Amino acid sequence: MTVPPFLTGNQIRHKFLDFYAQRGHEILPSASLVPEDPTVLLTIAGMLQFKPIFLGQRRAEFLRATTAQKCIRTNDIENVGRTARHHTFFEMLGNFSFGDYFKEKAIAYAWELSTQVYGLPPERLVVSVFREDDEAFAIWRDQIGIPAHRIQRMDEADNFWVSGVTGPCGPCSEIYYDFHPELGDAHIDLEDDTRFIEFYNLVFMQYNRDADGHLTPLEKQNIDTGMGLERMAQILQRVPNNYETDLIFPIIAKAADLAHIDYSEASESAKVSLKVIGDHVRSVVQMIADGITAANVGRGYILRRLIRRWYATAGY
Ligand code: ALA
Repeated sequence: MTVPPFLTGNQIRHKFLDFYAQRGHEILPSASLVPEDPTVLLTIAGMLQFKPIFLGQRRAEFLRATTAQKCIRTNDIENVGRTARHHTFFEMLGNFSFGDYFKEKAIAYAWELSTQVYGLPPERLVVSVFREDDEAFAIWRDQIGIPAHRIQRMDEADNFWVSGVTGPCGPCSEIYYDFHPELGDAHIDLEDDTRFIEFYNLVFMQYNRDADGHLTPLEKQNIDTGMGLERMAQILQRVPNNYETDLIFPIIAKAADLAHIDYSEASESAKVSLKVIGDHVRSVVQMIADGITAANVGRGYILRRLIRRWYATAGY
């Protein structure tokens, strides 16, 4: 079985942006963690700065864009440090099409990037599509050549992406990496995160969802994608979790050093604590850098809570 080449987090980020720049995408800066969008407290995805474009409220300056967006999500906070891949702060690498290319090209680009640039062996990749999306299924099977049993149909909860509750949305298709291909293809269960990790989500943005759940077609068909930088780093750096990548581990090593702990010899619970510190330090630093201060409400309260959790975790 082929093993993909080692890349640093920085190399992964640059290879993504360069790949899409070479294909006509404008490299745009990450937006602030403090969003203009009033429906969310923090920037939760790469698409947020483009929401007015998807909704037809603002004209796009470019038809194609690519970003490395800093994001914070707190919905999985209890899993941080306990699973291999949950974080509050993470970077999302994205390519976006504003009424330009759609499903076919987005899938072809994602496949080329994953297999040719990051060198992931095709036999280790499994994809999912929205249950009713026969078109995406056919593109993966007939144009990319993925065997049908490695294309899983998933329901709305997993494969229909919406930013928050209302707003631009659409069916999506995800690419997963298989850490244990030796287990064979007979029982592919993408929910099994000891075996599979989802690293790239391609959203076919084509509806606006209102508060009643009604879908209205958007003026244009768009592409919104997100690749988890830390997840790709876990894969390419061959470490057991996102925390032991070069993106987070230096913070953990410093914390362990201050606490006179040897990470490799530490108990599981000490490792969890160090991982929480590694995660929360990144969030807190980035939030403060974007002008957020601790408060009793809103995003300032999230900042305060993260600082308190990290203190509690550290045993102060
Ligand atoms: N907006 C999509 C996500 O966050 C790509 O997964």
